[in-house]
Amino acid sequence: MGSNAEYILEVKNVCKSFPGVKALDNVSLSVPKGVVYGIVGENGAGKSTLMKILSGVYTKDSGTVIFDGETIENTTPIQALRRGLSIIYQEFNLVNTMTVGENILLGRFRENGGMRGTHKRAKELLDSIGSKISTTSMVGDLSASEMQMVEIAKALSFDSKLIIMDEPSSSLTAEELKKLGIIINQLRDRGVAIIYISHKLDEIFEYCDIVTIMRDGCVIDTKKASELTRAEMIAKMVGRTIENEYPPRAHFVGEPLLEVKNLNTHKLHDINFTLHKGEILGLVGLVGAGRTEIIRALYGADKSLSIETYIDGQKVDIRDPGRAKAAGMGLVPEDRKREGLILPFSVQQNISMAALGNMTKGAFLDMSSEGEMAQRQIEALKIKTPSADTKVVSLSGGNQQKCIVGRWMEMHPRVLIMDEPTRGIDVGAKYEIYVLMNQIVEQGGAIIMISSELPEVLNMSNRVLVVCDGHITGEFNPEVDSAETIMDKAIG
Ligand SMILES: Nc1ncnc2c1ncn2[C@@H]1O[C@H](COP(=O)(O)OP(=O)(O)OP(=O)(O)O)[C@@H](O)[C@H]1O
Ligand SMILES: [Mg+2]
Repeated sequence: MGSNAEYILEVKNVCKSFPGVKALDNVSLSVPKGVVYGIVGENGAGKSTLMKILSGVYTKDSGTVIFDGETIENTTPIQALRRGLSIIYQEFNLVNTMTVGENILLGRFRENGGMRGTHKRAKELLDSIGSKISTTSMVGDLSASEMQMVEIAKALSFDSKLIIMDEPSSSLTAEELKKLGIIINQLRDRGVAIIYISHKLDEIFEYCDIVTIMRDGCVIDTKKASELTRAEMIAKMVGRTIENEYPPRAHFVGEPLLEVKNLNTHKLHDINFTLHKGEILGLVGLVGAGRTEIIRALYGADKSLSIETYIDGQKVDIRDPGRAKAAGMGLVPEDRKREGLILPFSVQQNISMAALGNMTKGAFLDMSSEGEMAQRQIEALKIKTPSADTKVVSLSGGNQQKCIVGRWMEMHPRVLIMDEPTRGIDVGAKYEIYVLMNQIVEQGGAIIMISSELPEVLNMSNRVLVVCDGHITGEFNPEVDSAETIMDKAIG
């Protein structure tokens, strides 16, 4: 089979099955040298599986992979790296207890002239992408974007010709994302090709030259980004046209349900607000402004210096998440891997676990209602899984997240707090989550929502509060006030 010097990577008819799932079905694509190549598709479409085959984490069942003119049979992650293909996972692959310099040149200290040479080389690599991180900092002390810079420097240290970024932006602030964009352009100018996977379609249009759309393990289409519209991309991803990305806004706001008074922590200053029955309240602010701190304090997950919480006018003492739950509150946390899911447990167990208290029959677990709960959420959120008994660890990233959302939907909390509820979730499933949010408020519940995607907050909320530097600095009606006005306030 001939290879083409124009391409850094050619994938031909690659197939891969897992028990009960055909993850890749005859996938073919060709990545030209020095382009940014986007891959989009619904949760479970097979994007990460393909990347893991390329980087030697999984082996393909059949098909051909040609990298830099060479047919690659079976490879290992270290061989792939040495050949010039690196992958940056969403969960970084760094050693937190080692320095930046040591991480960048891990296992290659001697060939770089010992520790001094290692730090010198690492600094050159960081300089080359305009990063000012000290090579002697501990990786565990870095922010997500700094870790990403370390990963990119590491990729460059192997002289990578292709760098795969699988959802690189999900933990970045807007500012950091801008920086990543600049680096992507620099890498492209140097002739490095990049595969960029994201559910944030704006980024795909901004960065990518070519886009491949996948669905159910198949390549549906490959086009120049400039020849593709957003609506067309979405239609090809989900297999049908979607009229609107948001359902009509719910209007069920009633009496006060939850009041927070005098909330102070080391970071938050005199936070006061009221959440009404039937209301979706958005918290808008920059990352680090204090939005997550507010909801964690409210939920009793973090200690406050002072807080008074009232539900239906009655004072309640919420000093830990157990009491929050007992008071009818639920939290979809930001970091679901760490705070939400139990990966070795099944989909069913993960969905039903919070609601278990509501359905024990005497001392025994009622298995049938556990199964019903899981089935209901698998259908409502279109969770892609071979069965309710499948372990969550084998689900795609976005489908894992749907399990957490499903768990809280089953709890029927009166106050549902959602921190980045649609992170990593595809466009179609986002819509399903929005519809469920509207159902919750229609039934008299209320929602507090945080999202780094401003259009999402503005389209779903009845009211938004702007959080800036630990203070609530503004209150807006997203049906009246413009996004610019609201963002201006958030920037401070
Ligand atoms: N190790 C595994 N064992 C079993 N099934 C798996 C494994 N890895 C992936 N799958 C299945 O393969 C399919 C494709 O998953 P993959 O992670 O490639 O999706 P994805 O396109 O990256 O989705 P997302 O946007 O949610 O990250 C899914 O149905 C998933 O459940
Ligand atoms: Mg994935």
